[in-house]
Amino acid sequence: MNVTAPLLVLLLISFFSTAQSFPGESFTGNEDDLALQMEKAIKQVVQQRYADQSMKRFNQAKSLGCFNATFTVNEAISPELKQGLFARPVSYPALVRFASASTTDDAKKDLRGLSIRVSDVVGKPVWGKSGYQDFLLNSHPVLFASTPEEFLAFIEAQRDDRVLWHLLTPTNWDSLYTLLVAREHHTSPFDIVYWSTTPYQLGSQQAVKYAVKPCSNFESELPDELTNNYLRAAMRQHLALTDVCFNFMVQRQTNNDDMPIEDAAAKWSEQASPLVSVAQLLIKQQPFISADAIRQCETTEFNPWQSLPEHKPLGRMNYVRKHVYYALSRFRNNQQ
Ligand code: HEM
Repeated sequence: MNVTAPLLVLLLISFFSTAQSFPGESFTGNEDDLALQMEKAIKQVVQQRYADQSMKRFNQAKSLGCFNATFTVNEAISPELKQGLFARPVSYPALVRFASASTTDDAKKDLRGLSIRVSDVVGKPVWGKSGYQDFLLNSHPVLFASTPEEFLAFIEAQRDDRVLWHLLTPTNWDSLYTLLVAREHHTSPFDIVYWSTTPYQLGSQQAVKYAVKPCSNFESELPDELTNNYLRAAMRQHLALTDVCFNFMVQRQTNNDDMPIEDAAAKWSEQASPLVSVAQLLIKQQPFISADAIRQCETTEFNPWQSLPEHKPLGRMNYVRKHVYYALSRFRNNQQ
């Protein structure tokens, strides 16, 4: 038998898989299988959770508010950051959704989520519909799981009703710590910083993480008594007084050892690589709890892969999200 032919095939496969990865990415080949296992386990969790009601999102289920916004790319951006959406100082219409990660009662500590869909975007996305660029962010700079395997183990623990035991296992103490410190009583979803936690390309040579920081001239106060819907009340009060402003920022990866692509639980130091503003997100005064706004929020299917190639999601954690978000949003919307 000629042994050089299979060797050549292997070399070619390894060449093309390496050629397709971005520096710092390290796929192991089980990611599609992980995504299918996650889909299965999350469907079981949401079916248990929403047995007698209409299906909501697995994560970030409570919509706190959905708004029309403007995403305006800054004029003064250094040339190496002028990539994709940030190439020209254009104003785009956007839809933004603020949510609570796992609770329905605002009086309980929680993480908040921010989903942004920019419209009228020119260029073919890596996945999804033309014309849109999505950004998904959380109110804590790191995720509680480093890898998709850790995330899957957590979902399966949720499904089997053994989350506490899972988190009390010594190997999961780091996750427990992050989940404890990430949950907070926030004054308002308009007052907090949001982070992408996972990395994205910026052009073809650089990796970045995103952050969104408030720049409004008003800040809410924490009420003495925290009620079920105090966060919506704070947003309503803010918008009755003035517009809401956020800076959309990028943080460049300087090296993969201190700022790894493949560890969603690792914080990229803002001293080593500061956040730089590339755009402004402006939410003008508007009513926001209309039935139409809520319906639009609930049916929109955000996905980090709804993205221009210049902002392609990086790493294994982001890889599995493409399938999981697609499958779960279809599942949820077909059941509504
Ligand atoms: C493997 C890791 C992850 C999995 C399996 C996962 C899973 C999910 C699922 C199933 C949904 C609901 C999708 C829908 O029904 O439309 C969701 C929503 C969301 N996730 Fe993740 N997630 C992961 C990582 C992350 C990370 C790293 C972030 C960081 C910012 C994040 C932020 C969000 C946000 C903001 C939403 C709400 C999206 C919306 O408004 O529709 N997730 N996630």
